[in-house]
Amino acid sequence: MKTLGIDIGGSALKGAPVDTKTGQLLAERHRIDTPRNLTPKEMARAVAHMAEHFDWKGPIGIGFPGVIEESTIWTSANLDKKFIGCDGAKLFGKSTGCPIALVNDAAAAGIAEMHFGAGRDFMGKTLLLTLGTGVGSCLAYQGVVTPLELGHFPWGKHGDSAEKFLAASVLEQKGLSWKEWGGRLHDYVAVLEKLFWPELIIVGGGVSADHKKFFKFIKPRAKLVPAEFFNNAGIVGAALWAAEKK
Ligand code: BGC
Repeated sequence: MKTLGIDIGGSALKGAPVDTKTGQLLAERHRIDTPRNLTPKEMARAVAHMAEHFDWKGPIGIGFPGVIEESTIWTSANLDKKFIGCDGAKLFGKSTGCPIALVNDAAAAGIAEMHFGAGRDFMGKTLLLTLGTGVGSCLAYQGVVTPLELGHFPWGKHGDSAEKFLAASVLEQKGLSWKEWGGRLHDYVAVLEKLFWPELIIVGGGVSADHKKFFKFIKPRAKLVPAEFFNNAGIVGAALWAAEKK
């Protein structure tokens, strides 16, 4: 079974056809940069370009960085606010002519990792964090993934959203050292451990490829591992989501 997986992020959308039986990408991943925030209409066009790139006609799974209920987008912290209230399946279905299944981007990464990646065969409590433009999160237990919004956990004097203090985008923008940034992540993970008591913590997002540089500054009780799909987890999980929804 083949499905096109698309991961909409704060600075680009990435996509590839995925074999949903194995989680393998069936073609080289395609990336469309979005240097400024696109309106829903512009994003729909970019998604259509992605489908055209792969000459795609079948089902498409899309990971979106916001709260998703069915196919309605309820939050858009790092993208255009006009997405709020949009029906994503209608928006992207119209531009591509394909059936669309929408899922939160971090939940998509969790689905991929629990099926085929760092959490496969693990039934215990797993917290997955994605570090990118924002901080994505989901919890899995018995392999079942629940989307969370822990990036918006209030962070004391730093504001109402922890992600503004510790996303990977902050590491770049503020020119933090790995040690400084790792220290911030350590404090955050310590709070999350008190609340959720995960046995396994999986870290995804582009920066997870550099995990050796900052994991040493995070000292959790749980086992801490990088996402096996690194930054492709969102693509693979979105494709799996679309396949499961059929
Ligand atoms: C959004 C989440 C998303 C995360 C990572 C946050 O700002 O609210 O829904 O999973 O960013 O993209």
